[in-house]
Amino acid sequence: MMQNVENKVIIITGASSGIGEETAKTLAANGAKVVLSARRKDRLKKLASEIGENAVYLKSDVADRDDMAALVKLAKERFGKVDAVFANAGIMPAGNMSQLKVNDWEAMVEINIKGVLNTMAAVLPEFTAQKSGHIIVTSSMAGTKSVPGNAVYCGKKHFCKGNA
Ligand SMILES: NC(=O)c1ccc[n+]([C@@H]2O[C@H](COP(=O)([O-])OP(=O)(O)OC[C@H]3O[C@@H](n4cnc5c(N)ncnc54)[C@H](OP(=O)(O)O)[C@@H]3O)[C@@H](O)[C@H]2O)c1
Repeated sequence: MMQNVENKVIIITGASSGIGEETAKTLAANGAKVVLSARRKDRLKKLASEIGENAVYLKSDVADRDDMAALVKLAKERFGKVDAVFANAGIMPAGNMSQLKVNDWEAMVEINIKGVLNTMAAVLPEFTAQKSGHIIVTSSMAGTKSVPGNAVYCGKKHFCKGNA
């Protein structure tokens, strides 16, 4: 049973599917107000309407610092504050290094590393001013050991774990 989340305002990146979507549903079912972020607007809209008045959403890309600032602004306008952020958005394209999938490598840097930093940068001034706040980042088993075919992803998730 999830405790102490009632009336907490929680931003969730990567809320349009998977872990982020399920977390949003669970938090909302336990009384939290959720601010949903991802790029697929149609999925966010559907999820927000399922949750009801305790959800708001913004089509936003974690790689874009302005989008993350807009997300925090929306949370404050709609719910008055931000108590926590779940920096969960991430991608996991696989492939051996010798395949030189350099676009995938760059996308992982943009989303799995810079995306987490952009999310943190957007909320930290709020948390510093109010002297409270929680930042939760999704790492992975790939953040604790090496996985063949996931070299770049492992590096990113070690970064997330180091940031915890
Ligand atoms: N599934 C696993 O086995 C597993 C294990 C360990 C860790 N993880 C980690 O868990 C997190 C969630 O993954 P998942 O398994 O739930 O996969 P998923 O269903 O593919 O969810 C990934 C989420 O990240 C969002 N996202 C991707 N790029 C984004 C961007 N540039 N800006 C904003 N949102 C973006 C996606 O939304 P849009 O495409 O709509 O933007 C989606 O909502 C990731 O960090 C992943 O690395 C997953």
